[in-house]
Amino acid sequence: MTARILVIGRTGQLAVALADAAPPHGVTVRCLERPVLDIVQPASIANMLTAYSPSLVINAAAYTNVDAAEDDAATAYRVNRDGPAELARLCASASIPLIHISTDYVFDGRKGAPYVESDMTAPQGVYGASKLAGEQAVLTRCPHAVVLRTAWLYSPVGKNFVRTMLAAGEHNSSLRVVADQIGCPTSAQDLAKVVLSVARQLLDRWDDRYAGTYHAAGTGAATWHELATATFTAAVQYGRSMPMVEAISTHEWPTRAIRPPDSRLDCSKLAAVFGLRLPAWQDSVRRTVDTIFSRT
Ligand SMILES: NC(=O)c1ccc[n+]([C@@H]2O[C@H](COP(=O)([O-])OP(=O)(O)OC[C@H]3O[C@@H](n4cnc5c(N)ncnc54)[C@H](OP(=O)(O)O)[C@@H]3O)[C@@H](O)[C@H]2O)c1
Repeated sequence: MTARILVIGRTGQLAVALADAAPPHGVTVRCLERPVLDIVQPASIANMLTAYSPSLVINAAAYTNVDAAEDDAATAYRVNRDGPAELARLCASASIPLIHISTDYVFDGRKGAPYVESDMTAPQGVYGASKLAGEQAVLTRCPHAVVLRTAWLYSPVGKNFVRTMLAAGEHNSSLRVVADQIGCPTSAQDLAKVVLSVARQLLDRWDDRYAGTYHAAGTGAATWHELATATFTAAVQYGRSMPMVEAISTHEWPTRAIRPPDSRLDCSKLAAVFGLRLPAWQDSVRRTVDTIFSRT
């Protein structure tokens, strides 16, 4: 029988990439958006699990506006903690695995080296704290849960840094970009492939050592300034002129929420357990820019 994967969220960057990615052999993927599946409405989760009877669920939905979360903690916790908690409870009672996506913002960014999964968490804002609470809720309620922490997600669609830079570069000959925050830029397309490969392995044969948290981010690290420069460099071949990209400090670009200064993720556990590694971020940025321009 064909295994069915239910994706919660349909409009988000990762959900779109999951829908576009070729599913592994013998697997179908169905993405559901609100209001059909609203993660803060327990009845809508239960109804969809009954109606679709999935073999595995991927939760790609989240409250992702890091700054807005500071002023709307109640909604952030409902979407990022309470909804996933209920989803995990329902997956556990149906005995199906759950893949839940989390973030590098669970860390304070002061380690000075890439974070491993067992490192102490210390979110700096409401978004990170609500996502951490969601991870904990999922792992305590569902014995067959895998939490994948990713970072600095971008894709040819949706709201993300690469698209924001391309839009800003169209009208500005110079831009100021933060150069003292470092992380692991991650292509949603690359992440979707990894998520589906993990799903395939969980479906093939569940092993209790699979349960738990993994880091899943693009290989290598960059500052926002380096990511912006790589984006503009890739866009030059499509006739874009290269803007001047001035390196500034976080202090010069104040935001409502505090960001971790160094949230690099060590992804070696994902490689050791599932044999998976995401491509180098520079190659993936080039591919994403190619896709963006090939669509325009
Ligand atoms: N974006 C990043 O840089 C980043 C970094 C690290 C980790 N992550 C994590 O990666 C995952 C995917 O992020 P993303 O960038 O793909 O997200 P995104 O593009 O911001 O999309 C979020 C999705 O969640 C859906 N959603 C919000 N509230 C919902 C609800 N109550 N019920 C059902 N769906 C709801 C949204 O639907 P609507 O269209 O209806 O609002 C949208 O489809 C998330 O877990 C996020 O925390 C993201």
